[in-house]
Amino acid sequence: MSILFQAYPLARAALFSMDAETAHEVTLSTLQRAYDCGVTRKLMHEQPETPTTLMGLTLRNPVGLAAGLDKNGAHIDALGNLGFGFVEVGTVTPRAQPGNPKPRIFRLPRAQALINRLGFNNLGLETFIANVQRSQWRQQGGILGLNIGKNADTPIERAADDYVLGLAGVYPHADYVTVNISSPNTKNLRALQGEDELAALLAQLRDKRAELADQHQRHVPLLVKIAPDLTDAQIDAIADLLPRHGIDGVIATNTTLSRDAVTGLPHAEEAGGLSGPPVHELSLGVIAKLRQRMGTDYPIIGVGGIVSGKQAREKIAAGANAVQVYTGLIYRGPALVSECVQAIRGM
Ligand code: FNR
Repeated sequence: MSILFQAYPLARAALFSMDAETAHEVTLSTLQRAYDCGVTRKLMHEQPETPTTLMGLTLRNPVGLAAGLDKNGAHIDALGNLGFGFVEVGTVTPRAQPGNPKPRIFRLPRAQALINRLGFNNLGLETFIANVQRSQWRQQGGILGLNIGKNADTPIERAADDYVLGLAGVYPHADYVTVNISSPNTKNLRALQGEDELAALLAQLRDKRAELADQHQRHVPLLVKIAPDLTDAQIDAIADLLPRHGIDGVIATNTTLSRDAVTGLPHAEEAGGLSGPPVHELSLGVIAKLRQRMGTDYPIIGVGGIVSGKQAREKIAAGANAVQVYTGLIYRGPALVSECVQAIRGM
């Protein structure tokens, strides 16, 4: 393991003394500088290849970066270099927007958890695409997922317009596109997971995708990212609707609104989505139900609460084909990536 990986516990102490969002910015700019100087390229642990085929894509390994850490796609190469098999960036909205007032990210260290209510703060589609185009990750064989959402001030009845704009913008630059309808921090967004709302949205996306596939002569897989707080009936409806509308895969799950696992901890009552280990069992339940209802072949990416190889293995055992991490990286650092790759390889 490289010096840089071993140094993370020390760096973490300094980072955790800062406000969570400041620490996030410092980490990304430091990682970028280290990458630009070639430091990480020399020091980073070489990840043994564990090729995984998913939706016709060949991932170098089945461990990916979850959306939301790099909202503007400004650090794709530096992040990919941490050993990920695939990197997902966004959520991007058509127009730039500031998100919710700060503070809006809170640490719950005793649960290795975070609560965030960022609200899709991002620089908009145009900057996002320019950043994506600058990155070398795809040319180097990395798989890139681009995650799209809706602006806060777009009425929910017009949500599909934003997703269609997002899809058209990112399509030529993506290995796959994720339709995020599960953030708890944009008013009514999760209502798009309801059966009628989802059917209407997916029909529009299916038509747009057919047009784009024709135009670009390439089928780009489309995934839907769902919440961990769904009822069995909602999961059933989703399991039925996704393949029927030609959606290629599902990402389970986003953050949770539940606070059951963190009751009494400082910040537990902050509004927003809870991530980290408290979401692991919830997302595991969703993955298992989806797998049961969708059959053995439907692509499922498992995310939520992976802080060690153990949870990564459990996601795969529950039916996921690949996994993603976010909060675990904040608590464990980049060593988590190779730990997960090895844990899955040993299954
Ligand atoms: C997220 N997540 C997220 N997901 C998404 O699809 N679009 C986004 O913009 C964001 N933004 C975001 C910000 C922050 C601060 C966090 C902690 C999370 C959700 C993330 O991708 C993942 O689905 C959940 O956090 C659960 O996984 P972890 O964090 O427990 O590994």
